[in-house]
Amino acid sequence: MRTCVATAMADPAAKAGGGPRVLLVSSEIHPLAKTGGLADVCAALPRALAKRGADVRLLMPAYDSALAQLGAAHVAADLGEMLGCEPVRLLQGHMPATGLPVWLLDCPPLYRRPGTPYQDAQGEDWPDNWLRFGLLAHAAARLALGNAGLEWRPDVLHCHDWPTGLAAYLVARVAGTRPHTLFTIHNAAFQGNFPLDCASRLALPQEVLTPDAMEFWGRLSFLKAGVRYADRISTVSPTYARELRTPEYGCGMEGLFEQRAGDFVGILNGIDTERWDPRTDACIAEHYSPDAPQGKAACKAELQRASLLAVDPEAPVMAFASRVTWQKMADLVLERMPRMLARHPRLQFALLGAGERKLERGFEGLAPQFTRRLGIHIGYAEREEHRLQAGADLLLPGARYEPCGLAHMIGMRYGALPVARRTGGIADTVEEAANGFLFDAPTGDDMEAAVERSLDTYARRPRTWAALRERAMRGEYGWDRAAHAYLELYAGAAAI
Ligand code: ADP
Ligand code: GLC
Repeated sequence: MRTCVATAMADPAAKAGGGPRVLLVSSEIHPLAKTGGLADVCAALPRALAKRGADVRLLMPAYDSALAQLGAAHVAADLGEMLGCEPVRLLQGHMPATGLPVWLLDCPPLYRRPGTPYQDAQGEDWPDNWLRFGLLAHAAARLALGNAGLEWRPDVLHCHDWPTGLAAYLVARVAGTRPHTLFTIHNAAFQGNFPLDCASRLALPQEVLTPDAMEFWGRLSFLKAGVRYADRISTVSPTYARELRTPEYGCGMEGLFEQRAGDFVGILNGIDTERWDPRTDACIAEHYSPDAPQGKAACKAELQRASLLAVDPEAPVMAFASRVTWQKMADLVLERMPRMLARHPRLQFALLGAGERKLERGFEGLAPQFTRRLGIHIGYAEREEHRLQAGADLLLPGARYEPCGLAHMIGMRYGALPVARRTGGIADTVEEAANGFLFDAPTGDDMEAAVERSLDTYARRPRTWAALRERAMRGEYGWDRAAHAYLELYAGAAAI
C-alpha cells in the first residue's frame, strides 16, 4: 500500500498554482447540498487550499439541489454502466461562490430524489445508500486513477466521511502509479455499515470481508474501509483524534485508530470568516465588531421580535442552533429547560434546528407554557441562523461528543458565548471563563451548573461579561492554519 504512490510534485509544470492537484470527494458541499458542518468544510477548505496555489477540484453526487444551484454544467464524461447502474455521467460546472471546478456524478435513479442526501422525507435512510455511495467511491477512484476519460488527474484523493470510504480501498489496491489518499473523519458515529452481501454488487472481492479488512461486526463498513486503506487519516480536531482511540468515543473502531496512530492527525476546522462576519453580514439588523459591539443590541431586539420573545435588552437570550439530536444533548436541554426558565424569570431561550422528531415535538410542546420566553423554530433556515447567532448572548451546544463543531465558533465570532461540554473541538477552542463556559460530564447536572455560572456572570459581572465576549469575538477562526496543515499532510503523504 505504501509503495507506488505518485509524489505531490510529480509534474510541477502541469499545475496552475504550483501546488498539488487535489480531488476532494464528499456527499455534501455547501451550497449544493448541506445537512451539517461537513458541507461547510468541504466548501471552505478547497477555497483556502486554492488560495495557496493548490489545483483543487470537487466531486459529489448530482442531487436535484446541486443541479439547481450549479446552473450551467456540461457533460464532461460518459462513464457508461457502473455497478449495474446507467446512465452514469460526470457533469462539470463551477462552484457558485468560489468558481472552483466541480464534477457532479449524475445517475438520476440514484440521486434525483426528494429528501436529504441520506434520507427520505420521512427521515428513513435510503435503503440503497450502499449503492448510492458505493458508486460515488467507484467514480472517485476512476477519476483519481485517470480512468474517467478526463485530461486531469490528481496527486491527492481527499475523501470525507463514510460515503467516500471505499474509494481509499479502490485506489490502494492498484499496482503502479497512483495518487495518494487522505481520509478525513468528521463523525465516527456515522459508519455506513451494510449487509455483507452488498460486497459482490459493489464489485468487491470476498477477501475484504474479514475483520482485518472492512468487515465490522458482521457488516461491510465503509468507514472502516477508509480508515483501513487510506495512506493518511485525519479528523477535525486534535482532541477528537485522541478521543477516537478510546472506547468512549471510538465507536468500536478504537483499536483500528490506535493501530493507525502513526498516520493519523487532528486538524482543527475553521469557519468561513467572510460568510460569518458581523461587520458585513447582510442578514442581521445592525453590523458590529469587537471594537464597536453596540450593534449587537439591535440584533438581539430583532431576534426577540422574530422569535416572539419579550423585547427586553436586559434578558439573557440563550440559543440552541444545532441538529436537535442526542449527540447535541438536545434531550438534556429539553429535560432541564423548564427548571432553568423557572429559576431565572428573565431567561429567554431560542431554538433553531431540526433532527429527531420526538425531541422536536418536545420543544414545540414546551413553548405554550412559557409565553414570550421560548422561541422554537423547527427547520433548517440559513438566514435565521445568522439572525440567531447575532442576537444571542449564550449558545448551548452541549454536545456529548463534538468532533469539531462549527456552530460554536460562529457563535463566538458573533459574541454569543458557548456553554459546552469539554470535548473534541470544543476543548480545543473554548476556555472556561475566558471565552465561554465548560462542563465535563455529559449530565443534566453538569450542564445546568455551567449555565448557572454563565447566567451569574451575565447578571452580576457585566464588565467580565464584556471582556469574555470581546475575547470570543477576537478569536482566530479562519482557515489559514488548517489549510497550511492539510498542504503539509498532502506533501507528507506523498513521501511515504
Ligand atoms: P454538525 O455538523 O455536527 O451538525 P457543526 O457545528 O459542525 O455541527 O455544523 C453545523 C452547521 O450547520 C453550522 O454551519 C450551523 O450553523 C448549521 N446549522 C445547524 N442547524 C441549522 C439550522 N437549523 N438552520 C441553519 N443552519 C443550521
Ligand atoms: C461533523 C461533526 C462536527 C464537525 C463537522 C465538520 O458533522 O459532528 O463536530 O464540526 O462534521 O467537520
